Amino acid sequence: MDEIKDSEHFQETLYTEIKSFFDSSPPLKDVDEINRKLEEFIERNYSSSENKTTRRVVCVTSGGTTVPLEQRCVRYIDNFSSGHRGAASTEYFLKAGYSVIFLYRRGTCQPYCRSLPDDPLLECFDITNESNIGVNPVHAEAVKKAISEHHSAVIKGNLLKLPFTTIFEYLQILQLIALSMRSLGSSAMFYLAAAVSDFYVPWETMTVHKIQSRSGPLDMRLAQVPKMLSVLRKDWAPMAFCISFKLETDTKILLEKADMALKKYKMHMVVANELLTRKEEVIVVSRSGKITVHRDKNQPGSDVESPLIKLVVDRHSEYIKDSGS
Ligand code: PMT
Repeated sequence: MDEIKDSEHFQETLYTEIKSFFDSSPPLKDVDEINRKLEEFIERNYSSSENKTTRRVVCVTSGGTTVPLEQRCVRYIDNFSSGHRGAASTEYFLKAGYSVIFLYRRGTCQPYCRSLPDDPLLECFDITNESNIGVNPVHAEAVKKAISEHHSAVIKGNLLKLPFTTIFEYLQILQLIALSMRSLGSSAMFYLAAAVSDFYVPWETMTVHKIQSRSGPLDMRLAQVPKMLSVLRKDWAPMAFCISFKLETDTKILLEKADMALKKYKMHMVVANELLTRKEEVIVVSRSGKITVHRDKNQPGSDVESPLIKLVVDRHSEYIKDSGS
């Protein structure tokens, strides 16, 4: 009885915190445009599709959210993520036949651009004679592959990219996506690889102008960002297959925290990774046990996302079969 009361109290507090987070967030500038794009994307990729059992849509989140310290923002707190995991995973989901909504941090790694140099514009192109520009032969293969694979996904209409910068934008857009994917039932998946801020400055308490250094050391109290995972599972898209990530720098607590996330937020899978080895291996935690997924070190240029997405797609197929849709 006490446990039920505790859980009811936890839910109530969470809903109050979530409401207060959204009520105090600066409104999204392009909310109508985002909703229009989502509606069109879902209609094209799912609703008008003849065989709904084979059509699947995944929302991949990627990159870190920022927490502004001033309303006219000069300074902000950032969360680490290059966006590599999300971009690579998007490519493999598209290859596996999924349509992908890629919710990404502006300026982070993009699908099909992983094999290009850091400054593709300046490094991939050369002036061949006075008026012509050509691709530098060193990068020709990589450029051809990136352009053809990206264009094919865009022309088929299987890839929708939506950018964010702040924690306010990220959570508001995630909610719009989840509500628009609700009708897809178990064919929908959330693959939450973005690094999401845990603390923020509520908009109404935030100073408008640049904080002045002449006032001396800065004392600041940050509010806790409510975890949206349980509300995503319970209310926004209750039938969707949900995968969250757990990042730690201390391996001793990693699996314990991943187990906790699986149970507390009722995730279907939690991908546990450690900062320094995240490109080599991840541990997938689910109710059926733990599986370590490695990059194939014997294959040059291999990555951990390829076997990871294979596993995720298999589990999603089982989930769709079990839920009878
Ligand atoms: O981008 P790369 O450089 O390739 O690195 C990939 C990665 C390490 C960023 C990625 O693999 C990863 O682990 N992403 C999740 C990082 C993270 O925020 O972990 P966390 O333990 O703080 O959060 C756990 C989960 O809760 C996340 O799925 C997050 O979406 C969610 N969360 C977090 C905070 C919050 N307030 N609300 C949330 O819903």
